[in-house]
Amino acid sequence: MKVLVVGSGGREHALARSLRLDPTVVEVHAAPGNPGIAQVATLHDVDQLDGVAVAELARSLAIDLVVIGPEAPLVAGVADAVAARGIAAFGPSAEAAQLEGSKAFAKDVMRAAGVPTGDSRVCGTPDQAAAALDAFGPPYVVKDDGLAAGKGVVVTSDRAEALAHAAACQQVVIEEYLDGPEVSLFAITDGATVYPLQPAQDFKRIFDGDRGPNTGGMGAYTPLPWAPPGLVEEVLRDVLQPTVDELARRGTPFTGLLYAGLALTSRGTRVIEFNARFGDPETQPLLALLESPLAPLLYAAATGTLSDVPPPRWRSGAAVAVVMASKGYPETSSSGDPIEGVDAAESRPGVHVIHAGTASAGDALVTAGGRVLAVTAVGADLGEARETAYAGLGDITFPGAQWRTDIAQGAAR
Ligand code: AMP
Ligand code: GLY
Repeated sequence: MKVLVVGSGGREHALARSLRLDPTVVEVHAAPGNPGIAQVATLHDVDQLDGVAVAELARSLAIDLVVIGPEAPLVAGVADAVAARGIAAFGPSAEAAQLEGSKAFAKDVMRAAGVPTGDSRVCGTPDQAAAALDAFGPPYVVKDDGLAAGKGVVVTSDRAEALAHAAACQQVVIEEYLDGPEVSLFAITDGATVYPLQPAQDFKRIFDGDRGPNTGGMGAYTPLPWAPPGLVEEVLRDVLQPTVDELARRGTPFTGLLYAGLALTSRGTRVIEFNARFGDPETQPLLALLESPLAPLLYAAATGTLSDVPPPRWRSGAAVAVVMASKGYPETSSSGDPIEGVDAAESRPGVHVIHAGTASAGDALVTAGGRVLAVTAVGADLGEARETAYAGLGDITFPGAQWRTDIAQGAAR
């Protein structure tokens, strides 16, 4: 089949790479893509938020499956526009993507479906926000209700900072603090059948030891040797399937990738957030271990036939991705810094480099965003995958590069 990947980040590079390696795929295209994606796909300079333009591109290329990577085009209705042309679209409708697009909507769905999540209040005024903060007490959790590229959440014990974040947003969700380790559990679904993937863990804070501000994600690994046995079955039963069933009941079925961000608290598993697409950077290590061909799973999810294909199979071993970010991230980012050493890193067995914020400048590769690339490695276990990823990272340089040194460290021990 012929596939078009929509987006230009690391997740889309990882998806395009796996599709390229899939023997059932004859052509991979991307819009708009990035220099890494250009190595595995044909790029098309089309606005990823323009559903009509994406659908027209897919039609003109005789595409069988459009895979929409990021949340913004999903919330903008790109999957709807593609499906309206009679082309299979992997990714939810704009309505179902509200599971990610609005934290208040997600809370409402969880309440209706009986899905365990933190208590919360939706607040539209400073007085409401102050009352909610005092009701829950510190540490305070204040979330922008709308899309914020992973940066809309402030967790702080400083009441003034919490109030200031609430005042800076139109509407916020203030919620009880959830302690305990976080797990990212993704599932592929056609709106009825749900196939969970292997659990992964992401590192959201910019600095080692989970310090500093939240980012889009600084690294990830899979599997989680420390996860309680039965976690996937529990989350499928209590979170994923009830959520998919509730959206079907409302007449807005969720198809595509349902991302459950979970906290394993002392009182049980709780949903921190839903996303409506593959997580970034968790997708990088997950796809590195996926043994099943990717396209048949995505196509079956897009066409309501998921139960006809076998659930995903995984390679043994482990995978780790370490993000290199540009100077100033996450507050700002730096562009045009020359990147060296990607080929050297990729010449190491088990290593591949996933591009996110990169650009071509003549023959050179330069930075073009906050998260620049993710060095991804597989190994027999987490220790080996981690060592290999950091060895590859050591080959790559650019001015102002920042990365965490502790990705998968605790889990590998
Ligand atoms: P979100 O965008 O909702 O995933 O939030 C980003 C990050 O903020 C999460 O990965 C958590 O680390 C943190 N966070 C969000 N909600 C809570 C909560 N209720 N309690 C503790 N930490 C949270
Ligand atoms: N890894 C976090 C996210 O994709 O939102």
